[in-house]
Amino acid sequence: MMIQTESLGVQYGSSIAVRDATLSVETGRITAIVGPSGCGKSSFLAALNRMTDLLPDAHVTGRVTIDGTDIHGESSSPHDLRRRVGMIFQKPTPFPMSIRRNIQLALREHGMRERAALEATTERVLRDVGLWDEVCDRLEASALQLSGGQQQRLCMARALALEPQVLLLDEPCSALDPIASERVEALIRELRGRYTMLIVTHNLAQARRLADHVAVFWVRDGAGVIIEQGPAARVFDAPRDPTAAAYLAGVQG
Ligand SMILES: Nc1ncnc2c1ncn2[C@@H]1O[C@H](COP(=O)(O)OP(=O)(O)O)[C@@H](O)[C@H]1O
Ligand SMILES: [Mg+2]
Repeated sequence: MMIQTESLGVQYGSSIAVRDATLSVETGRITAIVGPSGCGKSSFLAALNRMTDLLPDAHVTGRVTIDGTDIHGESSSPHDLRRRVGMIFQKPTPFPMSIRRNIQLALREHGMRERAALEATTERVLRDVGLWDEVCDRLEASALQLSGGQQQRLCMARALALEPQVLLLDEPCSALDPIASERVEALIRELRGRYTMLIVTHNLAQARRLADHVAVFWVRDGAGVIIEQGPAARVFDAPRDPTAAAYLAGVQG
């Protein structure tokens, strides 16, 4: 197993956002996380690369291992973890600087100095996300001039530049128009197998199209829990939990 959470819990002060979440994610697969707003999906993702360390009130319990190593163990640094486990958010988050620098800043931070290597990696990852032809003649332009969909693909290129093993995608298409959303979805599909991906999506049709594995989150007794999980076909066609069944059928949530 690539990622294994065991009884993962996330609390903000005294309020419990995620309780007892146990999930296994296989290498190279796409896992869709679905469920209504407020059931702890983002908190769950944030715990996987210790983004929760950066939230003042957040407290994480339970265990997360990546390739067998405990991410909270002594040998794990959050800096290295966030290189290996990239995160993409709903609202594209390019830095307010040039397209080139968006990619190269992260590379420099992680020790790449040589000009030729920086340029080669920049081109490679922009090609990976289908952005190279659109921006190769204006790498010095501000990333903020790009459209929302281009910005999101730039953010994915920035994450890919660090050669992560895992990509966490938190509603990556929700803020995009349908065509841009389709491009990002196609990109995620192209990256299948090369990266282990967890994607939170409200779009059940998208989850069905993309996912190998599905986890349904719900609020029970005031906390987000996983009420259903398994191979996508099984979860969609024969959910065991009645609430999950109603939600996946579009009746509830
Ligand atoms: N930084 C935070 N501080 C306090 N409460 C938070 C914070 N982030 C999320 N929450 C609360 O935790 C619960 C789960 O939120 P979240 O993980 O964002 O759910 P989802 O992504 O499924 O909408 C919600 O009740 C939300 O209000
Ligand atoms: Mg969320």
